[in-house]
Amino acid sequence: MKLWGGRFTKETNQLVHNFNASISFDQKFYKQDIDGSIAHVNMLAKQNIVTNEERFAILNALEQIKTDIDTGVLEISPEYEDIHSFVEATLIERIGDTGKKLHTGRSRNDQVALDMRLYVRDEVKETNALLKDLLKVILRIMKENIETYMPGFTHLQKAQPVTVAHHFGAYFEMFRRDCTRLDDIYDRMNYCPLGAGALAGTTYPLDRDFTADFLKFNGATNNSMDSVSDRDYIIEYLSALSTIMMHLSRFSEEIIIWNSNEYRFIELDDSYSTGSSIMPQKKNPDIAELVRGKTGRVYGALMSILTTMKGLPLAYNKDMQEDKELTFDAIDTTKSCILLFTGMIDTMTFNKDVMEASAKNGFTNATDAADYLVNHGIPFRDAHGIIGHLVLLCIEKKISLDELPLEEYKKICPVFENDIYEAISLKTCVEKRLTKGAPGKAAMLEEIKICEAFLSEE
Ligand code: ARG
Repeated sequence: MKLWGGRFTKETNQLVHNFNASISFDQKFYKQDIDGSIAHVNMLAKQNIVTNEERFAILNALEQIKTDIDTGVLEISPEYEDIHSFVEATLIERIGDTGKKLHTGRSRNDQVALDMRLYVRDEVKETNALLKDLLKVILRIMKENIETYMPGFTHLQKAQPVTVAHHFGAYFEMFRRDCTRLDDIYDRMNYCPLGAGALAGTTYPLDRDFTADFLKFNGATNNSMDSVSDRDYIIEYLSALSTIMMHLSRFSEEIIIWNSNEYRFIELDDSYSTGSSIMPQKKNPDIAELVRGKTGRVYGALMSILTTMKGLPLAYNKDMQEDKELTFDAIDTTKSCILLFTGMIDTMTFNKDVMEASAKNGFTNATDAADYLVNHGIPFRDAHGIIGHLVLLCIEKKISLDELPLEEYKKICPVFENDIYEAISLKTCVEKRLTKGAPGKAAMLEEIKICEAFLSEE
């Protein structure tokens, strides 16, 4: 059952039909296909290309088809090549010859370009909304943990003390950038390709601005050949999804490390963890591992579409049908990862004592000890060497810098006085870091204000 039998003398080979057909996956946007047709027929009537009577007959039937698919009354049949053919054939079946006028001035090339754009446009908005929910949870955790001390790492070695608020604030920034990236993509893609025809527009007096407006686009696309062959917005969106997944994957990796027996920084909620079928003691961070693992799938979709598009001459080529399955999969994958990840961190708890103890026993205050000497007139490079010696001494004695007696300090450098202990206490180390973006309380409160402002923007 096809729309183009006229010039053929033989039936299509069944394997060819199966290979060529996209209905098994493009039925995902039946709603968008019908919405596009509704816009098109309204425009055709406005331009006197169809009568008002024909318009209403088509509109009513299209609405009914949508409801019937929604409710399962009408099943999408795999005998059709694609969703466009299915909807049009059903329309003709239901209202006869009038239905045959719907496709006037339109090609499946601009139709599929429109449907996919409408579909992706909604998904861009939904991804953004899911990220905002994640940001709200991150912000809540930040606010509750301005004074929860933990070690900050470089090279996965304890470096300097930070706070949970500061660490989570870094992820707030990443996901905030992801949100604004999605906004940019939305603005750039929000132009309507309908009316581009097969590639060269049409001789009917179509009003492309009317359809663009009707479908809430910023306007109509500029060049009809580009309109039917542009898939940049999908590439941009998949790239944004890949970046979101990369951020989620990094965060997941930290959760996995923090949840390990050696760290025990956090406790995952039972409802977001899984057990082992053989080892009764295990509580595994499967959700975080799966999010990390699924990142590869989303990158794969991006690589796939980039490769599909790279050698294509203008304008439409059937290769472009390959833009759908992996894109749909990447969208569904990323959305479920954001959702699950949000639930996981919303329910996890912090072992604050363990985090604080870990920050204390890793010489994370060594920089501050060096700064103490600098404040007493010793050049930083010499101070660095002196504290290095003291750290070595502490390692031998199996103690922390806080526990080293003042005589030992003085033996290596007489400048040290009793106030060294205050200067290198965990609290001082964090609270004195007050540069913009640093973990000290006052700086953190400023950062949180900016985060709140972002979330309260429309
Ligand atoms: N299924 C096709 C796609 O996804 C729809 C466009 C078909 N156009 C054509 N001239 N065969 O790209």
